[in-house]
Amino acid sequence: MIAVDHKAAGSRGSEHKVIETPNRPPAVSVRNVAMTFGVDEKRHVVFENISFNAAKGEILCLVGASGCGKTTLLRQVAGLQRPTTGEILFDETLITGPSRERAMVFQDYGRALLPWRSVRSNIALSLEGTGRSKEEIAETVTRLMAMTGLSAASSKYPSELSGGMQQRVQIARCIAQKPKLLLMDEPFGALDALTRQSLQDELLSIVAAQKITVVFITHDLEEAIYLGDKVIALGANPGRVLADLTIDLPRPRHQLATREEPEFLRMRHLLHELIVGH
Ligand SMILES: Nc1ncnc2c1ncn2[C@@H]1O[C@H](COP(=O)(O)OP(=O)(O)OP(=O)(O)O)[C@@H](O)[C@H]1O
Ligand SMILES: [Mg+2]
Repeated sequence: MIAVDHKAAGSRGSEHKVIETPNRPPAVSVRNVAMTFGVDEKRHVVFENISFNAAKGEILCLVGASGCGKTTLLRQVAGLQRPTTGEILFDETLITGPSRERAMVFQDYGRALLPWRSVRSNIALSLEGTGRSKEEIAETVTRLMAMTGLSAASSKYPSELSGGMQQRVQIARCIAQKPKLLLMDEPFGALDALTRQSLQDELLSIVAAQKITVVFITHDLEEAIYLGDKVIALGANPGRVLADLTIDLPRPRHQLATREEPEFLRMRHLLHELIVGH
């Protein structure tokens, strides 16, 4: 696995020392990936030379300026798009298309949910057509609604729910398909600070219990440090890896105590310097 010695990665625009840390096998392996749109004078290199690994059960957060290619990269890990060059592997197999093992949670929960289906029925959606019995589906959905605090809203429709509740439905729907990898594109970006914090903690307890690997995009540097085992900072024009940081903060994390740790503050300063000062 490739990591960066972040103690050596403090200065703006510096080259980052790459070190090898032989530990858990990678679940996701992004190898020298580049993406270009258009040809000739319309050619636009979105990113190049992107390499990083996410170990099994790890939460990897991607941060970077708007337009540096985070969503494009996540779509490639989902198998919805192919990179121009390079390769992305999941469980040591080349990703060539979408799979039920890799679930995607979108920021825009309003569009992700079906407005004519209740909470229960929206969550059940990802289990339909999988050969499971009605009873089995009902049991799974009931368990997931309890896990995500949606039991009381079971028969409500998306338009009757708050933003946080709608996002819980989308997360529950993804978890229902028992993914090995959860891909999240600014999932809490549209929520208020308190709802965002409670969903962060719910996500942490769900992925710890289910041992899911997560790739999580956010604009919020603190959110990345709070959630992540690892934070990849991307620079723009073209997009590239500025730093691959290991977040050495104990778990379970705590909204107040973790954010007051000297290591948290050190990471916040480092990322701010890398991303904002870039
Ligand atoms: N299908 C496409 N055709 C042409 N250009 C595209 C296409 N998809 C994305 N791009 C371009 O690729 C670049 C990266 O887009 P992307 O949405 O991945 O950025 P992002 O880092 O997710 O930005 P944000 O933080 O604003 O969500 C942008 O310049 C965008 O215009
Ligand atoms: Mg995006």
